[in-house]
Amino acid sequence: MAQAGPIGVFDSGYGGLTVLKEMVAQLPQYDYLYLGDNARSPYGIRSFDTVYQYTKEAVSWLFRQNCSLVILACNTASAKALRTIQQKDLPVMAPQKRVLGVIRPTAEMIGHLTENQSIGILATAGTVASDSYPMEIKKFFPEVKVYQEACPMWVPLVENGEAESQGADYFIRKNLESLFEKGKNIDAVLLGCTHYPLLIPKIKEYLPVAAKLLSQGEIVAKSLVNYLERHPEMANLCSRQSRSLFFTTDDCENFDRHAEKFYGQPVQSAHTDLKTP
Ligand code: DGL
Repeated sequence: MAQAGPIGVFDSGYGGLTVLKEMVAQLPQYDYLYLGDNARSPYGIRSFDTVYQYTKEAVSWLFRQNCSLVILACNTASAKALRTIQQKDLPVMAPQKRVLGVIRPTAEMIGHLTENQSIGILATAGTVASDSYPMEIKKFFPEVKVYQEACPMWVPLVENGEAESQGADYFIRKNLESLFEKGKNIDAVLLGCTHYPLLIPKIKEYLPVAAKLLSQGEIVAKSLVNYLERHPEMANLCSRQSRSLFFTTDDCENFDRHAEKFYGQPVQSAHTDLKTP
């Protein structure tokens, strides 16, 4: 029997920390190993093949750290790499391990949150181009209309510490106006990128009051609770000492300085080049 290890949580950079925070809140007994590929972020502007290769390398590294369950806490990686990893790579690489994403659990419940049957998705250009949200939501809620808006400037604003600047106001207003021009009846707006919760105060300023704003952390954490209940064999492979470790592919000092904003408490990271074990 394999030895139990931490739950792996992956993002292109800091965004997944907003998801990890909720996982730790809802499942504090487990160990977590967070990996941010900061050296190669952002992923949102990269091709399908590049995002797939980078994500596969990250997943393989997390497997080597003894994670049996890996959560892609990144919409772009979930949209562009998850299916291929699950269908093509896992059966060869590690048939007993599991990789889950953030799009399906979000799609499964989002239709319950709209009265007008009209949802808006704010996401990276990569996630929007993949059409993953409209396709997944249609499977569960065929009657719901999904409108998408790519917000290519939002991740750079967050990554560069400009989330509270006037520059952020400009792009947030522009993208929200464009979204509501496409779907006038939207009454639920999903932040379909794990970086976006840091922009919530400004987004709320420009969001029509009637529209609900949904972020993924809680949704994904709840779905993990449910998954572990339904899969005791996987839960048994996840160690429980309430410890969280943080790794970045870039500079640790820089990571620690920014990470606190996303995670809500101080973080001390270590470096990995994803090559060495
Ligand atoms: N946080 C990632 C997501 O949820 C996107 C950031 C990036 O572009 O790398 O899509």
